[in-house]
Amino acid sequence: MGVVCAEVRLRLGAGLGGAMRCRACLLHRFASARLRSMDGQIQAIASRYKDQPGPLLLVLHAIQDEWGYLPPAAVPIVAAVLNLSRAEVHGVVSFYQHFRTSPPGRHVLRICRAESCQSMKGTQIEQRARESLGIDFHQTTADGLFSLEPVFCLGLCACSPAIMIDEMLIGRVTPERLDEVIAAKRTDP
Ligand code: FES
Repeated sequence: MGVVCAEVRLRLGAGLGGAMRCRACLLHRFASARLRSMDGQIQAIASRYKDQPGPLLLVLHAIQDEWGYLPPAAVPIVAAVLNLSRAEVHGVVSFYQHFRTSPPGRHVLRICRAESCQSMKGTQIEQRARESLGIDFHQTTADGLFSLEPVFCLGLCACSPAIMIDEMLIGRVTPERLDEVIAAKRTDP
């Protein structure tokens, strides 16, 4: 007899549910295994840094480097390993804009909002990005293709205004050049 998840049993009714082996249940079991594995990895990362001075930021950065964001399980696990309250960990996560609590889009577009870029019409680039993608900073497009993030200096001040798409830095950006960059990424397989 197959293992039936609660959701499917609910849909089918109690009489049929016990005899059904369904694809959804296999997927649920696979997802559960992955989550358990993720929890273990988060715990390992937190344990690695817990004896260092001020370990919380180190741990949060390491977790985000691993998955691109802080999974929901991160706060309670990190709090337990570092002997902090969940509120303390959550407070740090929400204070720093750098930390994401949802997965990033396939492509991350970062736009510099620091002084040099602002003085070189960087606000036009910000506006064009918002219009082209239909999202604001710290948001991800509905299709999951792009996330838009602000940064404060990319070290490319001599070529302001500057942006970064994924790992690529681009200087002297114009609204038209930004359109080209976004269009190229849209067709990126
Ligand atoms: S101020 Fe924009 S790259 Fe430095």
